[in-house]
Amino acid sequence: MKNILVTGSQGQLGSEINAIESNYPDLNFSFTDMDELNICSMEQLISFFSSNQFDYIINCAAYTAVDKAETEQATAKKINIDGVNNLVSISEQYNISLIHISTDYVFDGFNYKPYVETDLTKSNSFYGYTKEEGEKRIINGSINAVIIRTSWLYSAFGNNFVKTISKHANAKSELNVVFDQIGTPTYAADLAKAIIQFIVQDKIKGIEIYHYSNEGVCSWYDFAQEIVAFQKIECKINPIEGKGYPAPANRPFYSVFNKEKIKRCLNIEIPYWKDSLKVCLSIINKK
Ligand SMILES: NC(=O)c1ccc[n+]([C@@H]2O[C@H](COP(=O)([O-])OP(=O)(O)OC[C@H]3O[C@@H](n4cnc5c(N)ncnc54)[C@H](OP(=O)(O)O)[C@@H]3O)[C@@H](O)[C@H]2O)c1
Repeated sequence: MKNILVTGSQGQLGSEINAIESNYPDLNFSFTDMDELNICSMEQLISFFSSNQFDYIINCAAYTAVDKAETEQATAKKINIDGVNNLVSISEQYNISLIHISTDYVFDGFNYKPYVETDLTKSNSFYGYTKEEGEKRIINGSINAVIIRTSWLYSAFGNNFVKTISKHANAKSELNVVFDQIGTPTYAADLAKAIIQFIVQDKIKGIEIYHYSNEGVCSWYDFAQEIVAFQKIECKINPIEGKGYPAPANRPFYSVFNKEKIKRCLNIEIPYWKDSLKVCLSIINKK
């Protein structure tokens, strides 16, 4: 039996792992969040790991408020850099394999073709900087680890673009959504399955980076159109330029991932973004 700790488990991704854990009877999951295990507290971590044994940590804990990170820099650094550093120390001490989630924001978004794992990182926002530094803490560690970069994450749990657009579209006749930022949505339930495959297939050796999103490419405008169309909400979506929607943090203009490495490693097929969006919306609308 493999023992797996999921940190930050009440967030979008952690909740999706929790929702499918019963499909893996050979894996023994433990779920913690901030209240029970704060990854920023080395004292708490030492006490927790001295009385609990784990083979894997899936780190879903993060500071994810992209705009707020510009002003709450100390907090973002503490969670996304120091917290990750603490997990690396614990993993070294107890010989635990670490699965860590990172982001497309480690890139500046000025590429013209899908990002591969070896492309140089160059964040364009404070959140991106903290995630980039968090990755470096793992890369410099003496552990077995995978860093999985993902993008545009949404889920039936928590708050995200899918729920925000649905809510506003139900309340208004028109919505403005940016069309000049291109990427790929990721349904957290699909990512959760891929993450677990690293454990099931025993694929964590050394330190490797992988890219994971759903298949296909779209703009936030296309994504919003599909959210509204699938639910048959009567709301006109207007395409606007990003500069017409100023936000405190810079967003990458282009953050499409090349996913060949993870598909080859796990021998998986990744669902097309529209198909996964339909699955998620049908779950949200059943709740
Ligand atoms: N959301 C996206 O669009 C997106 C895109 C690309 C990559 N990612 C990455 O994907 C991962 C999962 O994202 P997500 O959307 O599932 O995040 P999320 O919904 O914001 O969940 C993060 C969880 O971590 C918890 N947490 C925060 N600080 C903690 C600490 N010090 N110790 C323990 N738990 C802590 C949060 O608790 P509180 O709610 O109480 O703070 C929350 O439950 C993150 O690494 C994120 O950077 C996300």
